[in-house]
Amino acid sequence: MLGNAMRQVDLRRPEAGNWALILLVVQNSALVMVMHHSRNGPTEQGTRYLASTAVLLVEAIKLLFSLVFATYDIRKSHPSSSASHIATLLRRSVFAPDSWKLILPAALYTLQNSLVYAAISNLDAVTFQVTYQLKILTTVLFSILLLGTSISSRQWLSLVLLTFGVALVQVAGPLGSESWKDRLTSLIQGDLLLEAFEAPAPGAVKGLLAVLSAAVISGLTCVYFEKLVKDSLATVSLWTRNVQLSFFSLFPALFVGVLWQDGAAIARDGFFAGYKPIVWITIALQAIGGLIVAVCIAYAGNVAKNFAASLSIVVSYTATAILFGTPMTLAATGGAATVLLAMYLYHGRSMSRTSLLPTSKERVSEKASKAIFQVLPPSR
Ligand code: C5P
Repeated sequence: MLGNAMRQVDLRRPEAGNWALILLVVQNSALVMVMHHSRNGPTEQGTRYLASTAVLLVEAIKLLFSLVFATYDIRKSHPSSSASHIATLLRRSVFAPDSWKLILPAALYTLQNSLVYAAISNLDAVTFQVTYQLKILTTVLFSILLLGTSISSRQWLSLVLLTFGVALVQVAGPLGSESWKDRLTSLIQGDLLLEAFEAPAPGAVKGLLAVLSAAVISGLTCVYFEKLVKDSLATVSLWTRNVQLSFFSLFPALFVGVLWQDGAAIARDGFFAGYKPIVWITIALQAIGGLIVAVCIAYAGNVAKNFAASLSIVVSYTATAILFGTPMTLAATGGAATVLLAMYLYHGRSMSRTSLLPTSKERVSEKASKAIFQVLPPSR
């Protein structure tokens, strides 16, 4: 029964995964710029909004939307049920006995989101983007450690190329502030890290530690969430899982972030101190991003999700060049080509399929496929 349902889900929804990946490319391109500006741009009367309030609001918005989608799913499978029966079914599915399994990822994602704010407040956008891409590698490492996934040498090569290509686009592209040669040399020699530790710009060490920790947590949490969702997709919908995730995230976001960490400041200045349109745009983009990430993880897989995030850097680079006429450097264009080559290599055999990005079935070796998706039929 589980096998049939999984098969149905998998065959019905591949396009959902593809659309989510495309949306993620767009969302990711916008988020880092907007978020960086919201944390570092000019403020009114010197008051900057508190990251903890934004983290809480993002979770509340995601909870609301996930509830709507979960209700829609239940309505679809029980078309003749009354509203109160649907509410009962929803409550039962959200507070099912296994809902506690979402407590850990909820706590970790809340921590990750707070770390991302800390990192972006203390680092320039380029350093943040390059370093955060380490989540590509941490995701694969946790897949190997926790799920027994095995990666072919060709896929390893593609992951290294991907990381290298992303770094090159970032440091050599128009978004890099210094001369790209200086920056690349610093990056290769490790001077960027040394600089941060030896003669740190205010908060640089904090920013680097925050982004490195966020990359590690991202890898661990998304692997855990993917396994959890896919193991139970036949019986628990993705949106129910997301309601559970956001619900449990509210507690650390409220008690640890808002009350414990920033309680005094909020009591003094108010919850919405420093809020202006760019802050609301950041919050909306993050909430939408979280929902898109959920669909990506469930229907396309984590590695595909990370490939999409990397592709967004190439898209930003190309779009800035086309729209604003910023010069394209040879090195950054080479980096963009390297990202595309890495995607081709990872994807393997064919570029003629509907998705350019690797699907969840392609991303694991046969051994891991057996472990995680025992019930799926061969992909072709
Ligand atoms: O950078 P990364 O891809 O790990 O980001 C994951 C983001 O997506 C986090 O902000 C997390 O809160 C959000 N997310 C979500 N719902 C999920 C999975 C992740 O909102 N089911």
